[in-house]
Amino acid sequence: AAGDFAFYCKFHPGMRGVLTVAGAGGGVEPERPTFDQPLVVPPTERGADVRLEMRRALVRTMPDGPRTSMWTFDGTYPGPTIRRRGGQGTHVTVVNHLPKGAGATSTHLHGDHHAAKDDGQPTTQLVHRGQSRTYDYPLTVDGKATPGSFFWYHDHRMDRTARNNWRGLQGMFIVTDPPMKGVRLPSGARDVPLMISERSFTAGNQLTNPFADGPEMVHGSGHDEMSWTGDLAPPNDATVGDTVLVNGRAAPYLDVSATRYRLRLLNSSPFSSYNLTLSDGRPILQIGTGSGLLPRAVVRSSVLLGPAQRADVIVDFSGATGKDIVLESVPAAIGSTGDDARAASVMEFRVGERASDPSRLPSRLPSPALVSPVPKKVAKTWTFGLHQGHHGSAWTINGESFDPTRVDHRAKLGTVERWRFRNTSDVTHYVHVHAEQWRTVLRDGKAPPPWEQGLEDTWRLEPGEVVEVAARFTDYTGAFMIHCHMLDHEDHGMMSRFDVVR
Ligand code: C2O
Ligand code: CU
Repeated sequence: AAGDFAFYCKFHPGMRGVLTVAGAGGGVEPERPTFDQPLVVPPTERGADVRLEMRRALVRTMPDGPRTSMWTFDGTYPGPTIRRRGGQGTHVTVVNHLPKGAGATSTHLHGDHHAAKDDGQPTTQLVHRGQSRTYDYPLTVDGKATPGSFFWYHDHRMDRTARNNWRGLQGMFIVTDPPMKGVRLPSGARDVPLMISERSFTAGNQLTNPFADGPEMVHGSGHDEMSWTGDLAPPNDATVGDTVLVNGRAAPYLDVSATRYRLRLLNSSPFSSYNLTLSDGRPILQIGTGSGLLPRAVVRSSVLLGPAQRADVIVDFSGATGKDIVLESVPAAIGSTGDDARAASVMEFRVGERASDPSRLPSRLPSPALVSPVPKKVAKTWTFGLHQGHHGSAWTINGESFDPTRVDHRAKLGTVERWRFRNTSDVTHYVHVHAEQWRTVLRDGKAPPPWEQGLEDTWRLEPGEVVEVAARFTDYTGAFMIHCHMLDHEDHGMMSRFDVVR
């Protein structure tokens, strides 16, 4: 492990002031764009066998000028949205036809509960160029159908996740709701997945390369693609962009009727968080996380989403006929919560005429059951921190950088564990856990806020904060990951492996 550690010391992560780099936070009002291209909803796949070809493609991101060369799933960015009912087993086959420099990839279905062999492990399940791999997603948890959820698939290759996601390589996966008594959520064209993610572009509409200074992988050595060419300049530790894309398009607009819409919000940015509001002060009714409905709908004036966080929300456009309403991100003015979110105009809703609206939305929702009772004893504490050594510094969990061969915790299949997350560094992290969906037990010693009372897989963890969560380990043994979902932190060591064992 000492050797691995020296390796991470080369990176000098943990730059102070990473959250004040251009475009992230800072409270400078960005100029409002003109929103002159329509929102595009990615193509939908509904079959039990989905085949996704990873390949370079030219995709429309900007309203005019050349298209952008990206690494895509099946030629689009985002890739096709997979929509399946809970319990409908799904096979997703990915084929790697990416250009040479891309190397091997690994695809992870974020939020889903599946076997370790189907988890898209960062080093041991690589899909090399010319090869394919089939992932098996039963969409069940402990014999029951997975609740209606909003997952996403994305690249998870060790050390290259930020780069591979920046280049494209992601798409959405919706587990549709079963029929629910007394509840009818907006559907069809009124159920809109919105993948929000930022990039920077050259004058010719091509992606900039924030990774140019990063270490280069030794390619073509077959199984050993994880060796490095040696000493190199510290790579980027905060991948931010100046242009916000929604479903791959910069500043799009969506024509809506003056009715209720269900918006599935995903922040798939590598690093930035957004504090989302509507420009006319219209409330956002949050009905779920990315992992199922909340027990009660929560009226919110803004929704803070860090990397990988999702929110299932209802916006009622009634009474707004003729108005243009902007979805924007506004850093919180006071206090710490959300003050690191970036300022941005995200997209525009152009509200048309009223239309009939069959949706029915009680305040109590049929949310998935939470694990109960919760053990009193904390089985594992994960401390997210910065190690400063004489060679430089490294993002760590429990003082160590990621080593895929080291098992940092063993959880017993069938048992419920209570875990604690602590942040001893001086920047916010977003903690993500694979394998299970969790109940948030305590946030800073208190009951979590109402929007954190459903199932969850990604938590905001501010400096000094302590969050406790609980889950039952079911169905699968093997290796799973816990990591910060700010992709630069993840790539620079802030990841651990835990094993579920018999
Ligand atoms: Cu969204 Cu470990 O991943
Ligand atoms: Cu982090």
